[in-house]
Amino acid sequence: MSGFIIDELPLLLLPALVALFFYVNVVRWKRMKRLNLPPAGSGWPFIGDTFAYLKPHLATSTGLFMEQHISRYGKIYRSNLFGEPTIVSADAGLNRFILQNEGKLFQCSYPKSIGGILGKWSMLVQVGEMHTEMRMISLNFMSNVRLRSHLLPEVERHTLLVLRSWRENSPFSAQEEAKKFTFNLMAKNIMSMDPCEPETEKLRLEYITFMKGVVSAPLNFPGTPYWKALRSRSKILRVIKQKMEERIQEKSERQEGAEDLLGWSLKESKLSKEQILDLLLSLLFAGHETSSMALALVIFFLESCPKAVRQLREEHSEIDRKKQRGEAALNWEDYKQMEFTRCVINETLRLGNVVRFVHRKVLQDLQYKGS
Ligand code: HEM
Repeated sequence: MSGFIIDELPLLLLPALVALFFYVNVVRWKRMKRLNLPPAGSGWPFIGDTFAYLKPHLATSTGLFMEQHISRYGKIYRSNLFGEPTIVSADAGLNRFILQNEGKLFQCSYPKSIGGILGKWSMLVQVGEMHTEMRMISLNFMSNVRLRSHLLPEVERHTLLVLRSWRENSPFSAQEEAKKFTFNLMAKNIMSMDPCEPETEKLRLEYITFMKGVVSAPLNFPGTPYWKALRSRSKILRVIKQKMEERIQEKSERQEGAEDLLGWSLKESKLSKEQILDLLLSLLFAGHETSSMALALVIFFLESCPKAVRQLREEHSEIDRKKQRGEAALNWEDYKQMEFTRCVINETLRLGNVVRFVHRKVLQDLQYKGS
């Protein structure tokens, strides 16, 4: 008798499991219908559409996944990303509404994997008071006064360094050069690291591995981009930590240090060492990856627009002509005259896809245009 039950058990269990599966799905479908949620595609259990969503694509497009989903479901659709039910919006009106209601109806919330790489004290992970404090520090770093006094001369110095390194008739990758330029600029402003130093170059190469993992599938197995990025994170933090210790020991002796972000955070903020480490790592990422991509896109778009190149040349030649004889360095007044240059940058940011997505958590049920 007991032998009969064991033999027949799989046969009895199978229909029961199938019935349960359909029951759960019907209940879920009815609930979704009642909630009037945006339409959804079918994804894999748990991982959902994460891999298709993260698939690399040209920065001049929104990628195949977005294009296909938008044409099938519209600009607002449901998906499952990073193990969470998600609503994806490519709708400018809804996106504006979300950002305008930051902290009220929505809250910044990135997948755990991003927190693992950028650190638990990263600005993209923190909310509330700590986020506000870190934002103040970052704003101070990019303040109008600092832009005029420090950043503009540094931008010019680093630009000239890059331009002078080019050899006539030898090809180079505009994207690589843009990355080198922005990394060196950020490393100088954050930790006073000089572009020609071997340790700056070593840190830059480590950052390349690090960045490949930030926007990758969160698979922490040996050999994956995510795993490699976590290892790079530790190595980068070791360098920043060493700089921090040196700075603490040297303290008042070093004048230059107080002018970079590391010096400023140590002197003026109440942040712990661990918090400063994550802040610096995140800012190096935020400022470098985005600006270098934007720069590379400017070059890419300009290639097919000789009229714009001509106009840019004229604008810059005119600024150069107006400068006093012997006065070489660019100043704030020169920068303000770069009106067409600003149009080129704005148009590039409109056409190019520099930051592929931002993540927000909804804090309460809400309706937008009836859904
Ligand atoms: C073309 C250049 C850039 C683009 C397209 C860009 C894009 C963005 C976007 C979309 C966000 C919002 C992320 C979110 O709220 O979820 C952001 C945040 C941020 N960016 Fe940039 N960024 C650029 C350059 C920079 C630079 C040069 C720096 C600093 C050196 C910087 C520092 C930051 C910081 C600190 C945040 C966090 C702000 C906060 O959470 O309050 N960004 N950026």
